[in-house]
Amino acid sequence: MKILVLHGPNLNLLGQREPGVYGLTTLEEVNNKLRRLADELGVKIECFQSNHEGILIDKLHQAVKSFDAVVFNPGAFTHYSIALRDAVAAIGLPVIEVHLSNIHAREEFRTQSVIAAVAAGQISGLGIHSYLLGLQAAVALAKKTEAEI
Ligand code: DQA
Repeated sequence: MKILVLHGPNLNLLGQREPGVYGLTTLEEVNNKLRRLADELGVKIECFQSNHEGILIDKLHQAVKSFDAVVFNPGAFTHYSIALRDAVAAIGLPVIEVHLSNIHAREEFRTQSVIAAVAAGQISGLGIHSYLLGLQAAVALAKKTEAEI
């Protein structure tokens, strides 16, 4: 079983970017914690970050042939990218939307996610735990899909 962890724009700056909102943990540390959890769960993961909408769309399309589920933090694209929403809807893999911050408790424009309706679920506001819980959920959903086939 293989899970794709996809990080959107500006998440490469974790650790230095608005630490009061996103914390001091770097993206590399987030990925390392995810890799450790993946080992414990007995699954493989690939972590990928891009600041570019089209590259994230390409990665989602390619995920169909090599991954069983996706943990996705779309960053600011969450709030307006219909193209990413369509890509999530198109691929047919379980996609767990995750956010470090609680998007529902921030500025009005962040409270809307155009991704949420096509994602399997959303985990928001738990810092790095959003990702760790997202990975656990992705594995559980991928196993369920496997059992149904
Ligand atoms: C974010 C929340 C978004 O509103 C923001 O644009 C981000 C990060 C989060 O993880 O809390 O870049 O997705």
